Amino acid sequence: MIYQASPARYAEMEYRRCGNSGLKLPVISLGLWHNFGSTDPFNQCRNIVHTAFDCGITHFDLANNYGPPPGGAEETFGKILKQDLSAYRDELIISSKAGWPMWPGPYGDLGSKKYLIASLDQSLRRMGLDYVDIFYHHRPDPDTPLEETMSALDLMVKTGKALYVGISSYSAAETVKAADILQGLGTPLLIHQPKYSLLDRWIEADLLQTLEEKGVGCISFSSLAQGILTNKYLNGIPEDSRVGKGLGNGAIQEEQISADTITKVKKLNDLSEARGQSLAQMSLAWVLKDPRMTSVIIGASKPEQVIDSVRCLDRAAFTAQELGLIEAALQ
Ligand SMILES: NC(=O)c1ccc[n+]([C@@H]2O[C@H](COP(=O)([O-])OP(=O)(O)OC[C@H]3O[C@@H](n4cnc5c(N)ncnc54)[C@H](OP(=O)(O)O)[C@@H]3O)[C@@H](O)[C@H]2O)c1
Repeated sequence: MIYQASPARYAEMEYRRCGNSGLKLPVISLGLWHNFGSTDPFNQCRNIVHTAFDCGITHFDLANNYGPPPGGAEETFGKILKQDLSAYRDELIISSKAGWPMWPGPYGDLGSKKYLIASLDQSLRRMGLDYVDIFYHHRPDPDTPLEETMSALDLMVKTGKALYVGISSYSAAETVKAADILQGLGTPLLIHQPKYSLLDRWIEADLLQTLEEKGVGCISFSSLAQGILTNKYLNGIPEDSRVGKGLGNGAIQEEQISADTITKVKKLNDLSEARGQSLAQMSLAWVLKDPRMTSVIIGASKPEQVIDSVRCLDRAAFTAQELGLIEAALQ
């Protein structure tokens, strides 16, 4: 099968400017943390990526350790790029990251310049790319001077291996320091990637305001709480769900889903039905209602989930009453 992108791919998607930069991102991006390893059926991976691009999702989020095995998702994505998307490279924003354990020894983890530069070179080889659009430091490293980690990101940009740089899961205070160091080096911090959902609100305390003040974009992950904020776990654990499959590598497990959470999710599900949308759609629309959010990275195990999730844009606005009812459901 020869892939031809849909001519209508830009008709429905909304694109938001990322902080003060010139880059616009789709409000829905696709992440390849799970379901794109070398053990996942290649045609399924391919269909999910095609469906996403046909819906106007121009941004694909990867990391060195996504798989299984680590590196597997970048290899899968590299194959899809080569086979189907090479003609569309200039329509794509591809990101990768390093910061979690990747290879044995002292140079395959955390935030040293040695690790980050070597890891990006490996990622480029796996994906068959000359450069990534965004490279992230994946998590804070308290033992490496922030100046060293940020100068590694700056070097990537100066050597043309990354166009923009970002950080993930840094606190507001760490973000201020990182942004200031990068500013001094002449490479602005483009974006921050935190976990954010109806069930995890930590960024509301101070990070969102910090990002706005620094002109940095925000792209959330696990905004469906790995599937909990959909209707699939309302009556038990389906075998073909992320929990049912027991994927490992940070994937949610049964013991992390409490009865209290399911009680809240049932109430949220009733509210989403009253709004005429799926719980997945309401959960994504709720994250995107804040204009400081540039994008939400969704995960998907099937192409249909991408289509369902993108339709959150059909009913994106909330009344004050709906927002009040959502807060009450979470109490
Ligand atoms: N920076 C970081 O540290 C970090 C950490 C985690 C993730 N991320 C990024 O964020 C991306 C998304 O994370 P995530 O996978 O946790 O996201 P998520 O969107 O919260 O969860 C995705 C899972 O939810 C289910 N799902 C998705 N859409 C659905 C729908 N419309 N209806 C029903 N079920 C649906 C699927 O699970 P089933 O398998 O059950 O069908 C899917 O695999 C990752 O791929 C990665 O790129 C970054």
